Amino acid sequence: MLWTEKYSPKNFDDVLGNVKVKNEILEWTEEWLNGNPQKCLLLIGPPGTGKTTMAHLAAKEFSEFVELNASDKRSYDIITNTVGESSLSRSLYNEGLKLIILDEVDGIHGTEDRGGTRAIGNIIKTARHPIIMMANDPYSKRLKTLKTKCTVLKLRKVHTNSIVALLKRICVKEHIEFDEYVLRNLAKQSKGDLRSAINDLEAIAKGKDKVTSKDLELISRKDEVANIFDSVRTVLKSKNIHHINDAMKLEAEPNFILELVAENIPREYEKAEEIAKAYEMVSLADTYLGRAFQTRVYSYWKYSYKLMSLGVALSKEETYRKFARYANSSVYSMLSKSRAKRTLRDAVAEKMGEKLHSSKKVVREQFPYFETMFQDDEVACEIAAFFDLDDKEVKLFRSKKIPKKVKTAYAKKLSKTAQEEVEKGLRGAFKTSNDTKAGGSKDEKSKKTEKTVQTKKSSEKEMISNKSPAEERGKKRSAGKSTSKKSKSKEKSDKKVKAGKSDKTGKKDKQTSLFNF
Ligand SMILES: Nc1ncnc2c1ncn2[C@@H]1O[C@H](COP(=O)(O)OP(=O)(O)O)[C@@H](O)[C@H]1O
Ligand SMILES: [Mg+2]
Repeated sequence: MLWTEKYSPKNFDDVLGNVKVKNEILEWTEEWLNGNPQKCLLLIGPPGTGKTTMAHLAAKEFSEFVELNASDKRSYDIITNTVGESSLSRSLYNEGLKLIILDEVDGIHGTEDRGGTRAIGNIIKTARHPIIMMANDPYSKRLKTLKTKCTVLKLRKVHTNSIVALLKRICVKEHIEFDEYVLRNLAKQSKGDLRSAINDLEAIAKGKDKVTSKDLELISRKDEVANIFDSVRTVLKSKNIHHINDAMKLEAEPNFILELVAENIPREYEKAEEIAKAYEMVSLADTYLGRAFQTRVYSYWKYSYKLMSLGVALSKEETYRKFARYANSSVYSMLSKSRAKRTLRDAVAEKMGEKLHSSKKVVREQFPYFETMFQDDEVACEIAAFFDLDDKEVKLFRSKKIPKKVKTAYAKKLSKTAQEEVEKGLRGAFKTSNDTKAGGSKDEKSKKTEKTVQTKKSSEKEMISNKSPAEERGKKRSAGKSTSKKSKSKEKSDKKVKAGKSDKTGKKDKQTSLFNF
């Protein structure tokens, strides 16, 4: 059993928040039971605030109840067959009152469902039974006429403190030790949605005897998606420039936001010319994004952001007041990719910040300058050594690896102590020999040869490992030169295989042929 069910309120006292609404429902129920028919109730409020729960609690007071989800069974027929009949026929006076629960009445959409709304209207008019309806979206057009026929009760989000209290109670009952901070964090993240708060707690705590702040990482991703969705929703729903600019202040990769905007335009916009205009903006935004990545001139991002937000938002003539369900098909995989990149970026910023005595944020702002500096091989080598950056980290600033030659030359220039430090930094490129203490000219010599062999080997490795990314990069103009060089050298070595030469390249080729067989 899910914890949301297990810990669902068993009576009205257990229901958190919305005291006024609770009391009104109780009074309404009592009036019905006392033989005073009441207007139909319409509960409107955000998800996870207890609408369905309260309707079910009220149902306990009546001898029977019928529940329908208006967005599932939308047609006129179904509603009149299942609800219509029961709403009309009523056997006894006070006994046998059948509560009719109609959930998600704002979920009914489109012209084909007009019958559904009409059916509800009819039922309200003719019913001699109590009816409770629920909806999420206060702006839904569907509710406009319904509202006039019902007593509307608006629910608010549940307060964070109440949510924390409930989460604590659950932890105690489940014998889970908890960190107050964790529960408060869960409560805050749920934004007043008890269902999501309880679900999150279950996700990180079920079967454990303790929850700590480390467990929060698990669900932060979910929160991230929700934030991005909020922003996308604002872009599509609003025409208010300030709101939109505010909504776009979020930590997410631009291509990810763009993808979501593009995917959801037709779900919100209805007019063909608006859709066309919006997609034109998406396409332009995409062009600038591509340019930003290719040229690493990140001021292009700014244009891209503006086009995908304001451009798309202002493509509509008027705002739509409807409840559109947005799609998130590829969200999670994309998010994990961008997250990996961000993690690397943060790690590098932190590393560099330590040396520069600056915060991560300040260092990140300087990244574009570093990118410019990193374009020069020697300078790149020097900076990488100074900050102790490995090849993967260097890639944040330049698309090509620092050439081995440059690295070796740089290393030679330094004094012995400095060299030790640099070697640590360039760990990925060549390994430091353990016997640095060993002296003697003979040893020195053998060390040197060892090193050259190693250098050759690793440069060969580099060639092999670089082959496929280089081929990929071949599409890009900037990498064109190096690719052709590499593919030439590949051709060469292939030829050597055929000729059956047995020098050092032959060694490598033997290995390749081993692979082939
Ligand atoms: N006000 C509340 N007090 C206590 N628990 C609640 C409350 N609202 C929601 N919950 C919890 O969340 C679950 C889902 O609530 P539900 O009534 O279906 O929300 P809604 O219909 O408003 O989306 C419930 O089963 C219950 O566990
Ligand atoms: Mg509900």
